[in-house]
Amino acid sequence: MRVLRAPARVLSSTALTRRRRVGIIGFGAVGQYLARTVQTDPVCSQKLELAFVCEPMDARAVRADKSIPAECALDDLGDFASKGADLIVEVAHPSISERYGAAFLKHADYLVASVTTFADRKTESDMLAAAKSGAGHGIYIPAGALWGARDIQNMAFRGNLRGLTVTMKKAPHHLKLLPPLSDRLAEVVASGASGETVLYEGPCRGLAPFAPNNTNTIAAAALAAHNLGMDGTIGRLVCDPSLQAHIVEASCPLLHSDLPAHTTPLAPACPL
Ligand SMILES: NC(=O)c1ccc[n+]([C@@H]2O[C@H](COP(=O)([O-])OP(=O)(O)OC[C@H]3O[C@@H](n4cnc5c(N)ncnc54)[C@H](O)[C@@H]3O)[C@@H](O)[C@H]2O)c1
Repeated sequence: MRVLRAPARVLSSTALTRRRRVGIIGFGAVGQYLARTVQTDPVCSQKLELAFVCEPMDARAVRADKSIPAECALDDLGDFASKGADLIVEVAHPSISERYGAAFLKHADYLVASVTTFADRKTESDMLAAAKSGAGHGIYIPAGALWGARDIQNMAFRGNLRGLTVTMKKAPHHLKLLPPLSDRLAEVVASGASGETVLYEGPCRGLAPFAPNNTNTIAAAALAAHNLGMDGTIGRLVCDPSLQAHIVEASCPLLHSDLPAHTTPLAPACPL
């Protein structure tokens, strides 16, 4: 999903024929999957090629992996521009966008997986300003487990969206939280509570910094609902020890309708 709707760019004939160069930041589960897919998937490898792979915590991890061509290993992320990526994909940590997001957008399109980074006001405004700056590069957000993200975005563009509440329900052992939310979770677990417990209910901006890995879907919803944004979109984080899957519920009251639109997709829960 593209965050700002901008006129389609006219591509030069060179841009239409050559493969798009992809830079990947983060070499964990998703980063390794993407690097492999770009190189080996028959459809992707026709359209894409690796520009770089950067593991910000340990550059040796990329160099040690023989499936990554040596010229694609990027040791210092500050040198990203030298690799000529058309698309930079962050699959590492929200801090990457805080530090480099606006700079990436001067050179390339930018796909942000750690969507919770937009809860930081400066990061959000710097990246949106860079995307509007005329360099012609866009911010892309994975819809993740949020079915209907484009529908929410379209309703926001049409002015029909009056509100949005997104609830994420997970088993306690699938939650990776920071204080004070982690303290609240510890209390709930220690009490032996069964059934659903609401850990947080309020603006997405107040939730994302304390659940940066678990609320990317809520943050993506807040960006899709751009008339409401991080402050107007309500996030609910619920733990339930009986859950075998992650549940995402999105509910939005619409203009000219008493019935809210409602979706409830289930996402398989992989063991952490
Ligand atoms: N939007 C979505 O739907 C969605 C889906 C999956 C993952 N994600 C996000 O993508 C990111 C990567 O997910 P993953 O499953 O590959 O995680 P992972 O833990 O397997 O890998 C994370 C990578 O980032 C690096 N990293 C960790 N902390 C860092 C820091 N402070 N600074 C720089 N690099 C750091 C690690 O060394 C590792 O290479 C996470 O932020 C995750 O929340 C988003």
